[in-house]
Amino acid sequence: MSDRYTQFANSPLGKMLVKNLGLPSPVQLDRYTPGEPVIAGAVLFGAATEGALSNAIAGILRGADAEVFGLGGKTAASDDQKYKGLVFDASGIKDSADLVKVYQFFHPVMRKVEACSRVIILGVPPEACDNPRHATAQRALEGFTRSMGKEIKKGGTAQLVYVAPGAENQLESTLRFFLSPRSAYVSAQIVRVTPNATAAQLDWNKPLAGKVALVTGASRGIGEAIARVLARDGAHVVGLDIPQLGDDLKVVANLIGGSALAVDITAADAPQKIAEYLKSNHGGVDIIVHNAGVTRDKTLANMTDQQWNMVMNINLSSEERINDALLAQGVIRDNGRIVCVSSISGIAGNMGQTNYAMSKAGVIGMVQSMAKVLGPKNITINAVAPGFIETAMTAAIPFAIREAGRRMNSMAQGGLPVDVAEAIAWYSSPASAGLNGNVVRVCGQSLIGA
Ligand SMILES: NC(=O)c1ccc[n+]([C@@H]2O[C@H](COP(=O)([O-])OP(=O)(O)OC[C@H]3O[C@@H](n4cnc5c(N)ncnc54)[C@H](O)[C@@H]3O)[C@@H](O)[C@H]2O)c1
Repeated sequence: MSDRYTQFANSPLGKMLVKNLGLPSPVQLDRYTPGEPVIAGAVLFGAATEGALSNAIAGILRGADAEVFGLGGKTAASDDQKYKGLVFDASGIKDSADLVKVYQFFHPVMRKVEACSRVIILGVPPEACDNPRHATAQRALEGFTRSMGKEIKKGGTAQLVYVAPGAENQLESTLRFFLSPRSAYVSAQIVRVTPNATAAQLDWNKPLAGKVALVTGASRGIGEAIARVLARDGAHVVGLDIPQLGDDLKVVANLIGGSALAVDITAADAPQKIAEYLKSNHGGVDIIVHNAGVTRDKTLANMTDQQWNMVMNINLSSEERINDALLAQGVIRDNGRIVCVSSISGIAGNMGQTNYAMSKAGVIGMVQSMAKVLGPKNITINAVAPGFIETAMTAAIPFAIREAGRRMNSMAQGGLPVDVAEAIAWYSSPASAGLNGNVVRVCGQSLIGA
C-alpha cells in the first residue's frame, strides 16, 4: 500500500515544508538486499568491563566483516568519524553506580550516527543475576534502550539483548539481525538469548538451505512476504491458504519454487491433513509459521457469537490443534521452529477488538507456555507482534485513524510486510536455537502499548 506522505516528505520541497512546519519526518528506511554486507558502515564497540560477552561480540563483528572502532578495533582518526552501529557490552555492570558507563560510551557519539543506524546493548538477564543490585542495574538497561529508540531518529533502531550465562555461542544470528537492514522496522525490543547445545554451521546468505517451512495464510499480505523471504533464504516453502484462494496461492508457490496446500485451518481434519502432507511429501517439517489471521471488529455489545468464534478459532485455537497434531506425530524435526504472528492489539488492546486482542494475547500465552514444553525437545517457539503494517487489512481502516496509526511510532511511518517476514526468518534460522519464548514487536516502536 502506498504511503504518499513519506514519499512527499522525502522530496526536496517536502523536506523543506516538513522541517519548517514541524511535521512528522519519516525517512526511507534501509532494507536488505541479498549479498550486501551485514552493516554498511563503521561500528563503534565498547564495554563496561571486558568479559566473555565482549569476546563473543568481537568475534561476531569480525565474522560479519564489520569495520570496527573502539574495543579490539581501530581508533578514529578524526572527530568527524561517523558510525552506522553502536554496540555496547553492558554485561559487566554490577550495580547502579556502574550505569554511568552507559552514559560515558553513548554521550560523546550521539551526534555522530548515520541514518538508519543500529544501537545494540547487551546485558545479563536480571533473573540470571546473583544478587539484587546486579539484577537492578541490568533491568535499568531497558529504560535506557527504549528512550534511545525515541532519540536516535533518522530511521535508527535500538535494542537490548540479554544473553544468559553460557549462551554466548547462540548470539550470532541475533546480533547479525539487529545490525543489518533486515531489522528496519524493529526497535526498542528486549530479546533473551538462552543456552542451547546446537551449534549450527550455515551459509549466512542462505541460512534456511535444505529446510522445509509451512506458512499459513500465504496467498497474500504478510504471509506472502514470509513465504518469499523464507524461500529467498533457501527454504522449500509449503504455502497454505483457504481453498477459495487456491489459485492465488498457486501463483505465489510457483513464483518461489514452493508448493501449495489448500486447507481451511479451522476444518476438523486440517491438523491431520497438514501432518500427512508434510510427512508424505517432505518426511517432516523444520519451520511452522502460524500467520493466517482475521479481524471481525465490533464493540462487544454489538458483536455476534459468529464473529467472536471465527476470530478465536482461526487466530488461536486452530494453531493449538495443529501444533498438537504435528508434535504428537513427531512431524517437526530436531532444531525445529514454530513462529507465531501476534499483534500489538494483543499487547495494548484496541477498541472494537475484544475478540482479536484476546486471540492475539492468547498467542503470546501459547508461545510463553509452550516454550517450556518444547525446549527439551529442541524445538523453539517465538512470536512477532506487528504494529501498523501496510497491507490490505490496514488500507481498509478509515483515513484519519489510519494516518494516526501510521505515524504514531518512532519511525513516523507504517512497516512493510517484508519487515515482519525478516523477523520471522531470523527466528527460523537454524542458528537461532537460543531464542525460545520471545515476543518481538515489529512496530517501529509504536506508542501504542509501549
Ligand atoms: N496488517 C497488519 O497491520 C497486521 C498487524 C498485526 C498483526 N497482523 C497479523 O498478521 C497476519 C497476516 O495479516 P495480513 O494483514 O497479511 O492479513 P490478510 O487478510 O491479507 O491475510 C491473511 C491470510 O490468512 C488467510 N486465512 C484466513 N483464514 C484462514 C483459514 N481459516 N485457513 C487458512 N488460511 C486462512 C487468508 O485467506 C489470508 O490469505 C494475521 O495474523 C494478522 O492478524 C497484521
